[in-house]
Amino acid sequence: MQFTAKTANPATLTTDCLVAAVFDDKVLPEATQALDDASGRVLSKIVAAGDIGGKLGQTLLLQKVDGIRAKRILLVGCGKAKELDAKKYGAIMRNTYRALKQHSIDSAALTLTALPVAQLSPTRKAEILARNFEMQTYRYVTTKSRPGTNFTLKEAVVLTERDRGATAKGLATGAAIGRGMNLTRELGNLPANICTPTFLGKEAQRLARRYSRLMTAQTLTETQMRRLGMNSLLSVGNGSDQDSALIIMKYQGAPAREQPHVIVGKGITFDTGGISLKPGLGMDEMKFDMCGAASVLGCMQALCELKPAINVIGVIAAAENMPSGRATKPGDIVTTMSGQTVEILNTDAEGRLVLCDALTYVERFKPKTVVDIATLTGACITALGTVCSGLMSPDDELAQTLYLCGIETGDPCWRLPLWDDYQEQLNSNFADIANIGGPKAGTVTAGCFLARFTKKYRWAHLDIAGTAWQQGAEKGATGRPVPLLMEYLLNH
Ligand code: BES
Ligand code: MN
Ligand code: ZN
Repeated sequence: MQFTAKTANPATLTTDCLVAAVFDDKVLPEATQALDDASGRVLSKIVAAGDIGGKLGQTLLLQKVDGIRAKRILLVGCGKAKELDAKKYGAIMRNTYRALKQHSIDSAALTLTALPVAQLSPTRKAEILARNFEMQTYRYVTTKSRPGTNFTLKEAVVLTERDRGATAKGLATGAAIGRGMNLTRELGNLPANICTPTFLGKEAQRLARRYSRLMTAQTLTETQMRRLGMNSLLSVGNGSDQDSALIIMKYQGAPAREQPHVIVGKGITFDTGGISLKPGLGMDEMKFDMCGAASVLGCMQALCELKPAINVIGVIAAAENMPSGRATKPGDIVTTMSGQTVEILNTDAEGRLVLCDALTYVERFKPKTVVDIATLTGACITALGTVCSGLMSPDDELAQTLYLCGIETGDPCWRLPLWDDYQEQLNSNFADIANIGGPKAGTVTAGCFLARFTKKYRWAHLDIAGTAWQQGAEKGATGRPVPLLMEYLLNH
């Protein structure tokens, strides 16, 4: 898709379709009012007649209107002006794209960045527009025998009054983030018989080849991990015929002496629960248990496209959690890379077992900060549903920064306490730490487990169990929390 920022009078612009907003209760925002004036009140008459009231989700396509050069006008309901925020603004973009698709309009000019959205800059609005448009072009087809045809908007011209440069910058950022999210979604959606730990390693290599001036990728084999003492990570893959892997990607946009930000993704390519086997119903969704890893790959791709002057290291802890005669058993004890011993009371609490060794491994990079991303606990869905990701950090400043990044991008997260009061739930009679903390506060005790391995740097944990994929008829990976992570990496 081609995005262009343009300073032009919407009324006199030649375009297949001009997109204009209508607020709830038939209120016209400034840009639409100008078009109404140019058309001799045609638009306000249509709105007054009740053809479109302005509720979020409504759209109305008009054929040629006198006084306006465009072939058609698409009116888009934007809800109540005062309630507009980043999340609603994103929804407006998706509705707009869907209406264009419905009418097979492949080129449009949009006045939507002129909408006043509380606290959102022109750059941010353009970013959200491009990100959502780019995301709408994605459809999963890889394993369909008849992929069919897919509509894609070819050209989106974004009209601005003043800030053409700012808008252009937002469009470029949003498009790259949208494409990163689409990579994240594709990897999440791929079945586990294709998307194995080895496959994820190859994906990293593919990115590194494509962007060889900016990025390198390396995969540690099981043998190499054994030498490093990563017995906890390795224990998860014991029951699987697939080799586990630690994948390390380095994006270098600044001199090597600049400390990197590190992002670490949980990459369980399928989670059966192991010997602590999960129930059958809905188990297919555990192919999505590598969505943290997929979000790391999505971010690395977006970074390579945007080329910011920072250093970022992306790490993926990849394994397949299967039951077998060689699988880890409840009660087994492993020595982690950090030297701490872990009693594995439940083999289904495997995410923390792969992450703890990856989190110890990344100490060597002397990171500015480390953020891990994981579909870690079902309890996080119970606590927060699918609206926001869980955020945990002992660092108030880092937690606040990530929280604000979520609000700003419409990809929110909410903080849960990581207080020491919860640590005693992880006591073990036979090892330094147990891998489960009982039925209470399951998301927090998972975070507390990781906290024992992250003392040497500033760290935050995102539990994306509820946000990484959608269930039901719309089943599929969402690409979250790539927008939140990219906002953090690009601006902090
Ligand atoms: N990958 C799951 C968490 C999960 C479950 C995410 C359902 C999304 C939907 C994780 O490995 C897991 O199984 N966690 C256990 C932890 C428990 C054994 C302490 C869980 O949540 O039940
Ligand atoms: Mn599990
Ligand atoms: Zn899991």
